[in-house]
Amino acid sequence: MVLAISLFSKEGIHWIFRWWHVVFGVCWIGLLYYFNFVQVPAFPTMEAAHRNGAIDKIVPKALWYFRMAAAATAVSGIIMIGLYANVYKYNYGTAIYMGSLIGLVMLANVWLIIWPQQQIVIANARGLLEGKPANPDIGPVGRKALLASRTNAIFSIPMLMFMTGAQNYFGQSDDLGSKRFVMWIVVLAVVVVLELSALGYIGGFDGPLTKPLAAQKNILHIGGGVSVVLLALWFILAL
Ligand code: HEM
Repeated sequence: MVLAISLFSKEGIHWIFRWWHVVFGVCWIGLLYYFNFVQVPAFPTMEAAHRNGAIDKIVPKALWYFRMAAAATAVSGIIMIGLYANVYKYNYGTAIYMGSLIGLVMLANVWLIIWPQQQIVIANARGLLEGKPANPDIGPVGRKALLASRTNAIFSIPMLMFMTGAQNYFGQSDDLGSKRFVMWIVVLAVVVVLELSALGYIGGFDGPLTKPLAAQKNILHIGGGVSVVLLALWFILAL
């Protein structure tokens, strides 16, 4: 009975938000990994008619859950920040806010780059199924969406490092104090460079940072590498 009543306390409501935030987040990031690790490598191996059929029937549904889950994850996260900002202090707060920043850049990539480009890809596939000519610009359109999606898959690794580590790990160490600004500058620099590169501003879509994204395994190498560097910096600052 006491447990049932405490569900309506501040802590109970906080937990319900956190619970659904993770449900939405798993749906979003799960679909992001499906696109990157399953769909993108599988599509070129399919016959054109089968691929266009899949783009017509499967991709729009997957993209609907993808962008709704992305929005719901961000909204539930922002509501928690609004309601419980006083809880997010010291190292715990720094890690939550760093994860949130990366998550919000990922949200912008979903809604402002991946979704508009994918609408063109879907329209092209449907046109082809109806016997219409291919869109001559479809190559660059697909590439733009792919780079944003790959960059989001890379971002997901440090984002989840901060978000899941906030309570169990980062929050347990001594307060970084004003040294957290160093951490912020480095995190911001990494996010800005990767994002500008995804948008084609650093050497175009075949630039030094975008070329490695053609290989799927580099998602893990770059995402993992960035995470290790940020973790090492946190260790050093916390010494
Ligand atoms: C899109 C922007 C995002 C924002 C603004 C955001 C915000 C937050 C906030 C404020 C918390 C703290 C909850 C608490 O009070 O305990 C949190 C926790 C958490 N978030 Fe996010 N989040 C975002 C994306 C994601 C994504 C994509 C995932 C993927 C699953 C995720 C997974 C988690 C997890 C597992 C926790 C629990 C951490 C813990 O209890 O130790 N978040 N997030």
